[in-house]
Amino acid sequence: MKRVLTGYRPTGKLHLGHMVGNLQNMLDLQSQYDCYFFIADWHALTTDYADTSQLQNYTRDMVLDWLAFGLDPKECTIYRQSDVPEVAELALYLGMLTPLSWLERNPTYKDQLVELKSKDIATYGFIGYPVLQAADILIVKGDVVPVGEDQLPHLELSREIARRFNHIYGDYLTEPKAKLSKGKRILGIDGRKMSKSYNNAIFLTDEPEEILKKVKKMVTDPARLRRDDLGHPEVCSVFSIHKIFTTPEIETIAQDCRTAKIGCTDCKQLLAASISDALAQFREDRAKMASSPGLVDDVLADGAERAGKIVRETMTEVRQRMNICPTK
Ligand code: TRP
Ligand code: SF4
Repeated sequence: MKRVLTGYRPTGKLHLGHMVGNLQNMLDLQSQYDCYFFIADWHALTTDYADTSQLQNYTRDMVLDWLAFGLDPKECTIYRQSDVPEVAELALYLGMLTPLSWLERNPTYKDQLVELKSKDIATYGFIGYPVLQAADILIVKGDVVPVGEDQLPHLELSREIARRFNHIYGDYLTEPKAKLSKGKRILGIDGRKMSKSYNNAIFLTDEPEEILKKVKKMVTDPARLRRDDLGHPEVCSVFSIHKIFTTPEIETIAQDCRTAKIGCTDCKQLLAASISDALAQFREDRAKMASSPGLVDDVLADGAERAGKIVRETMTEVRQRMNICPTK
């Protein structure tokens, strides 16, 4: 069975954007591959090393969201990056053989430097982000890495780093292949892409009242000012989310909007109900899991042990090839 690996920085509770993108994807993968899903807590430090106060909470939230969504620790291995310290050791070795020019030309690096101007990220850790990511992947010998488009340059770097290692120390590391996730995009309540940092997200843990409150704020067809104006669902954010959550009745809604049979207030009520229904089971399961003492810790401990086995094997071989404490 091919090995899939992917990691996420712990950014807190997951929202609908994650659900229709990554989460659904991970759920599909877990039954088809030998999956390693990890919380990249070290990577979180690359953009915020000073304020680490939420790191533990965010990690826990993410694991709970994964589990409640249906990721099954019996089917996939869920672990935390920092529980596998060998990753840092491999990153150190890979850093030795990675030319600075490869890192400097990385488009994400250049973009982020401009975008996060207010943050002090002109650090060694930040420019080395892709080296750490390469270590994550190569250390478990991931064959396939599901990523979004923005991560493709990083994956290409991982491949180049693997090739360079193999060229110098003999063929050993697996060159990972990117699997472009065709995750759907979802709009936030202000019509921009849903993102926690835009403050426009509906979280998977939001209660029905909260969901309704947020949906009510959403922008609709700008041409529909009065109740009897005819609507254009194709330009309406509310409708774009209906398409995902209200599948069987979707044609009726489109028709009723175009003929002004339904008003936006009712339409939003319907959407809020569809979203709440879709999340009901998740919310119930997550609440149960959150109050089950030790659950998250147990999953992470078990994951660290499983990942640890593979990782130690890789590192023994890597050290031997590099003549670094070959007896360890
Ligand atoms: N860079 C990824 C992100 O920002 C997180 C990540 C870290 C990752 N290590 C990885 C993804 C290894 C895939 C494989 O979302
Ligand atoms: Fe959008 Fe619904 Fe209003 Fe039509 S009725 S404009 S789909 S909110």
